[in-house]
Formats: sequence, C-alpha cells, structure tokens
Amino acid sequence: MKNIDEIRAEIANFKIENAESLEQFRIQFLSKKSEIQALFGELKNMTQENRKEFGQLVNELRDMAQNHYNEFKATIEAATDKKSNLIPDITRPATRQSVGSMHPISIMMGEVRRIFEDIGFSAVEGPDIEDDWHVFTALNFAEEHPARDMQDTFFIELHPDVLLRTHTSSLQVRTMEKQQPPIRVICPGRVFRNEAITSRAHCIFHQVEGLYVAENVSFADMKQTLLYFAQRMFGDEVRIRLRPSYFPFTEPSAEMDVSCNICGGAGCNLCKHTGWVEILGCGMVDPNVLENCGIDSTKYSGFAFGLGIERMTMLKYRTNDIRLYFENDVRFLQQFKAATK
Ligand code: PHE
Repeated sequence: MKNIDEIRAEIANFKIENAESLEQFRIQFLSKKSEIQALFGELKNMTQENRKEFGQLVNELRDMAQNHYNEFKATIEAATDKKSNLIPDITRPATRQSVGSMHPISIMMGEVRRIFEDIGFSAVEGPDIEDDWHVFTALNFAEEHPARDMQDTFFIELHPDVLLRTHTSSLQVRTMEKQQPPIRVICPGRVFRNEAITSRAHCIFHQVEGLYVAENVSFADMKQTLLYFAQRMFGDEVRIRLRPSYFPFTEPSAEMDVSCNICGGAGCNLCKHTGWVEILGCGMVDPNVLENCGIDSTKYSGFAFGLGIERMTMLKYRTNDIRLYFENDVRFLQQFKAATK
C-alpha cells in the first residue's frame, strides 16, 4: 500500500484540465473505493495510540483532496459559462430592436410649422412662465377682463405678476418689442389654463399662434393664408368659413371653422351635426397692441391667428378624448409611428 506522502504528492501533481479529468480525480481520491478510503479501513487494525495519529493524517489527506477537487470544479464551471456566453448560437433569430414613435402632438406641431415655414414664417419660442404684461396688458386686455381671473389663469402664489402663459400670443409681443416690421412669425408652445379636465378640455395644451405685420396687410391676406393652411393640412377639398368673434388684441376678430373631415359636412358627433369644426381664432392686430409694442400703427397693419394643436390632432386622427394625449399609454402612442410624412 502506498504511504500517505506518496498519495499527497499524487494529489498535488494531478492535472485537472477538464470535466473528465475532474471525474477521474474524484474516483481516484474521493470515492468509496479510493486509496484514501482504504487507509481509513486500516484504522481498525491499529493500536489505540497509532490509530489517533494515523487517523488525523488520513483526515488531512482527505480534506486536501476535497479542497483540490472543489477548486478545480469551480474553475472548470466558470470557464464553461464564459465560453457559452462568448460564443452564442449564431443561428438564433436576432432580438428585435424596438423603435420609438413620435408623440402625435409633436407630429402635428411639426406639420403645422412646416406648412407656415414654407410661406416664409419662422418659428419663435419663449418662456412658459410669463408676466402679466406679455400675456395680458400689452395685448389690450382690460384690467377687469375675465381671462385674468383666478378661474382661468394659474398665478404663482404671492406673485400676481408671475403666471403660466394662457396663450402663446405672449411671444408675438416679445417679437414685436424686439423687431420692426416686416414680421412673419409662428409661435408654437405649451399653454396652461385652469380648467376642469374632460374629454374635450385639459389644463395643459399646445398652440401655434401666428403673426404677420407689414405695410398694407389686409383681412383678405389673412383669409387667403388660412385657406392655404387648411388645404395643406386637410386636403384641397376642405372648405373654410369665418365667423365674427371677439378677442381684446384683434379688431375685427373671427373664428375659423373647417368643413368636418369625418362626415364631409353631412353632420356627425364631432361636428355636433353642423358639418363644421372650429379650429382657430384670428383677426387684424388691434392698433393698441402695435403701439404697446413700439410699432407705428399708422404705417403698419397685421393679422394674427392662434390654433389649438390638440383640437387639430383629434380632428386629423379622429380621436375623441383629449386626455389620451397626456396619459402616454404606449398602446395609444404606438399607433402614430407611420404618421410622419
Ligand atoms: N390667443 C387666442 C387664444 O388663445 C387665439 C388668437 C390668436 C386669436 C391670435 C386671435 C388672434 O385663444
């Protein structure tokens, strides 16, 4: 029988390189039939004294073999794991990349912008948080005009002069203060009104407003510009109509309807059976507004308009609840992937 030192040397020199040699090692040193187990069998033939000393040595030998085994087993397992990660099955179908989609409001904003940019309007942007002058006073709102009421406007508490803009007309003021005519701008942006949230109204929505100021600008120029816009947005067969209206900053003022693109004018729920849907407010810029912004109203005239993006989007994509645009439910948003053109 081999002695303990010989077996110890064998363990130390045993080359474990793969799963097979690991198994060989286990059979040789750790199984029931191993040489180490045979040494344990010798114990019963020994004297009390020798047994204690010999037993301890054989125990150490077994522990050494077990540690050796555990160590190599771990190394081999780690190596096979790594290998399978490094070389995946190259015949497997590739994982699909999910492509995001543009929000319908962004798509519509972009479309409106492009239509006006094509005829020489350029877009200007500005702050959501405004002051009273740019949102109301410069735009000829009387001191006691209801739009200034707490019901409609979000004011910053303790600072009645600081508020969330209720329309992007504030940017028209900012533009006229900086620039003399000719001015041709559109003002896209987010606006805020303290309204109850329903399927038709929300406290946040988006507008694109427009302003054209130059010499001899007429109401007919405005009408033609808005007809051009409606035809590009809804198609050549669309009809428009202007109804007299009132805004503090325009005189005369009008609201523009387009023929309902769902029923084609025959009457349906969206147009409340009138055949027409209102999409924007417009009018000739009130001379007071021009003067407030440092523009000579005897020399220049202009028109302005403002349209609600959500309303346009609902009309174009035939959705009937404005809240869908703010919930960001991907099942809704995904449907707009192909809508860019
Ligand atoms: N500012 C108006 C609104 O928010 C829209 C508008 C703009 C009307 C310009 C007339 C001229 O409702």
